[in-house]
Parts: sequence; structure tokens; C-alpha cells
Amino acid sequence: MKQYLPKKPFFILAPMDDVTDTVFRQVIAECAEPDLYFTEFVNVDGLMSPGRPNLLKKLRFAAKEGRLVAQLWGLKPENFRAVAQQIADGSLARELGLPDGVNFAGIDLNMGCPAKGEVKNGACSALIRRESWPLAEEIIRATIDGAGTKLPVSVKTRLGFSEVDLEWFDFLFQFELDMIIVHGRTRKQMSKVPADWSLIGQVREKRDSAGVKTLIVGNGDVENRAHGLALAEEHQLDGIMIGRGVFHDPFVFAEESPWETYSKEQRIALYRKHVELFAETWQHGERPVHTLNKFCKIYIQGFDGAKELREHLMAASSTDELLAAL
Ligand SMILES: Cc1cc2nc3c(=O)[nH]c(=O)nc-3n(C[C@H](O)[C@H](O)[C@H](O)COP(=O)(O)O)c2cc1C
Repeated sequence: MKQYLPKKPFFILAPMDDVTDTVFRQVIAECAEPDLYFTEFVNVDGLMSPGRPNLLKKLRFAAKEGRLVAQLWGLKPENFRAVAQQIADGSLARELGLPDGVNFAGIDLNMGCPAKGEVKNGACSALIRRESWPLAEEIIRATIDGAGTKLPVSVKTRLGFSEVDLEWFDFLFQFELDMIIVHGRTRKQMSKVPADWSLIGQVREKRDSAGVKTLIVGNGDVENRAHGLALAEEHQLDGIMIGRGVFHDPFVFAEESPWETYSKEQRIALYRKHVELFAETWQHGERPVHTLNKFCKIYIQGFDGAKELREHLMAASSTDELLAAL
């Protein structure tokens, strides 16, 4: 067992596609650090195809970033094995331009994404369906094999596909994964109903009964650190993962967030920092400037005239234009 998080309960920034790239993670780190970060989900079948250069941007990170887990999805076990090997031996980090000694802290398998495209192909949350368990097993075993003894392997998943199916977790426990992140909804529920934390607690009880060391992390609708601590205590969880909470408060991992009292100038300065880092990081147009608009809504709110300023900023067609307006 590769123990990567000594402190309990620990906090994780959730993977969010097109959101938690290296730029946003660095902004969050400056506000209030979680204990662990995840990349956006990256397709291993794409990584092992000629499309690889285009996907590497999702794995990009800065040497100074905190502990970062690479999240993978896909269909072909041999590609999971190959990518896990490249991550574990550090060759993928070298390909990303990182210096020797800097590497990912773990590998996570996405078995929770509910999106139609992925599910139609039988990937992500579709792997929870019983007929897909043999493939899920092959994927997990191939990844653990590829990672060897070097890196921990986790699975991020949901409570079931159409219905709650806690036997899915009995199935997962046999692989002695380092960590399982439980998003407290089924695939069918998408994000439409509140996360069911009592069922997350039941998964933790099952883990105890199974006698495995797999860390259990709860996820779904956590508003801030205090809320997460209360849920971890109530359900005796090892960790808490927070996603959308950062949209309401970039200091969501802080013991006491200053966000409510942040002035207009401070909010604008934080967005400016984000845009400057974005311009520095994605110099070759790897991410179009309009992808910044979703972040604009995070920072530019909560003061008089915020809506008008947002509209103005969202019309910018380059980072230079945006910085000038800010
Ligand atoms: C915009 C967005 C993108 C997401 N992308 C991913 C992803 O790439 N991988 C993943 O495992 N979950 C993804 N999720 C799900 C989140 O990681 C998390 O499980 C979910 O939002 C529930 O947690 P929350 O209520 O704290 O946001 C995404 C969620 C959102 C809102």
C-alpha cells in the first residue's frame, strides 16, 4: 500500500474537464491549498494514437504544483497499461518538459463520468454496469500492472449506474486500490438530486468489513472545508473531494475563507493573475481565450457593476485585450 496522504481527513480538488487545468490549479493553490489535485480526464486510447500531442495539454503541470494525480479514461486495457507505465517511470513527465525528480503523485481511473458520448462507448460510468465488470477488471489490473510499485492507483466512481449498486464496491475492493472516490449519486441521477452521503458512509462500512486498506473519499455538493470536515467525521471517511464549491469560493479549502469580504479590486486582481498565468502557459493557442469566460464568472461577481464588467470582459478576443480591460 502506497500511502500518499498521511493526514486525515485530507482534501482533494476534484477533476473538472476544461476547468482544473494547470492554470486554475495554481490559482487555487495561491488561495488555499488542498492536499491533492487531479488533472482533467484524459483518454488513454487518444494518448496512444497520433492525436497524443493534442491531449498532453490536459496533463500539463508546473514543477511547483502540489501533489497531482493523473486521471485516465478509455476502453483498451493495453493502453491503460502503457500510459500507467509512462506515468510511473516518469517518461511522460519528461515529455511534458518537467525536470528529473518531478512527477505525478498517482493515477486515477474515471469510472463515474455520466456523459452520453463516453457512456455510449461503454467507458467511464458505463463500467459500473455488471456486464462491464470484466472490462473494468481488465482496466484496473492493467493500470496497477503498469504503475508497478511506484505509484498509487485509485478509482473515482458513482453509487451505481441506473440504480444504487453497492456490490460494485465489493467488486472494487478485491483489487486493493489505494483509494476510491465515491460521488454520492448514480449515473442516472447525473447531478440532479442531492448527493447521498449516508450511502457513501455505507461504502466506508463495507470497506471496513472487507478488511482492505483502500482509502474512502466522499464527493458531492460539499460547500467548503468546514462542511467537508463535518461529513468526514459523521461518516468516518478518509478524505473529502470538492469540485463546484470552487466556483462559489476560490478559497474553499481555507480554514477561514476571506472571499465574502474580498473587495472589487482584490477580485479583479485575482482574475488578472489567472489571465496572466493563462497567457504565459498557453502561448500557442492551446486553449482559446473564450475558455476564460467561465472563470470570469467566479471572480467578477459580488460587487456593484460586476455584471456589466463581465459582459465587457467576455467580449475580449485576446488575453492582451482582456488584461487591458482589467
Ligand atoms: C465542469 C465539470 C467537469 C467535470 N469533469 C470531470 C472529469 O474530468 N473527471 C471526473 O472524474 N469528474 C468530473 N466532474 C465531476 C466532478 O469531479 C465531481 O465529481 C462532481 O462535480 C461532484 O462534486 P461537487 O458537487 O463537489 O462538484 C466534472 C464536473 C464538472 C462540474
